[in-house]
Amino acid sequence: MIEKAIVHSRITGLGSAVPEQKLTNADLEQIVDTSDEWITARTGIKERRIARFDDSLTDYCTKAAQRAMEDAHVEPSEIDAILVGTISGDYRFPSTAIFIQSKLRAMNAFALDISATCSGWLYALFHADAMITAGKIRKALVLGAENLTRITDWEDRNTCVLFGDAAGAAVLEASNGEQGILSVDIGSNGDLAHLLYGRSENAGSPLIEESFHSRGNFLRMSGNEVFKHAVRTMLRASLKALKLADMKIDDIDWLFPHQANIRIVEAVAKRLRIPREQVFMNIHKYGNTSAASIPLALDDARREGKLKSGQTVLAVAFGGGFTWGSAVIRF
Ligand code: UT7
Repeated sequence: MIEKAIVHSRITGLGSAVPEQKLTNADLEQIVDTSDEWITARTGIKERRIARFDDSLTDYCTKAAQRAMEDAHVEPSEIDAILVGTISGDYRFPSTAIFIQSKLRAMNAFALDISATCSGWLYALFHADAMITAGKIRKALVLGAENLTRITDWEDRNTCVLFGDAAGAAVLEASNGEQGILSVDIGSNGDLAHLLYGRSENAGSPLIEESFHSRGNFLRMSGNEVFKHAVRTMLRASLKALKLADMKIDDIDWLFPHQANIRIVEAVAKRLRIPREQVFMNIHKYGNTSAASIPLALDDARREGKLKSGQTVLAVAFGGGFTWGSAVIRF
């Protein structure tokens, strides 16, 4: 029986997991015509984690979810819903969330994936928060996870230097205290889908000759265009989340931006007028992990002792679609 008068949903546990294998900028110099200097200066990335061929996204997700549940002191049987922001699951169907449910033995949960590229975790958070505050569910696992290196074109230096694989998880619970999701907002603009996309494989059709020879399912991006939209949209989304929470930037202890490019983040932070030392970055270690980026950063910051109980965080993401999301969260 779910009690009435739930004011917020609240993150009670965090966890993450990444593949063991590192790919450094020096390694990439052996693969495409690039340099450590270019990648560092243009993106802020020094290394990223890469899944091995037989590694499974489900395994990272399960590990991240177990760590989050341990952190929250929650048992798998207590979980009502598993939501996973991802576009690169192990299977086309069923969803990644379904496999996680089975591995965790969270058999009282329903499970679904949300396809919203780099905004996937905030999209999942939005929906889990809505279900909890509506009284439909009580406890949810909210994950963001990607094996984007599976759909990376290793001959395209414009994109292959950017991405890494990871999973991040949060336990979200009903709460009527001070801590919690103070605002969460999402949006999309399908008119700009052509700037960042990955096609479905269509090699199954004997009628489409080029499908046998093309590398058509790889991720494609007009980096420069995406960059400009990312700065403008992340700024707008940040201001929206602040407004919904009835807060100003001075009320925020930490900005947790999607780790796409250090120059995008610096441009957004400057426009928001938040000091650099209040902007959490771990892009140098993991690259752009898409939907995993924000929960991985939150977990990293907590383990480093930077993110503390009582602090207020502004999280903001932007990705292909375009999609975007933002949230003000008190820990
Ligand atoms: O995750 C959510 C969405 N994604 C993003 O937000 C990513 C947004 N975009 C970006 O982060 C940046 O646009 C990139 C990092 C992808 C590229 O940086 P840029 O400063 O926009 O570079 P550019 O595309 O304008 O390219 C500048 C030059 C070009 O050479 P020319 O034409 O000036 O001779 C590129 O060919 O840099 C060249 N270049 C490279 N050089 C060495 C592109 N990639 C590389 C590379 N190594 N890996």
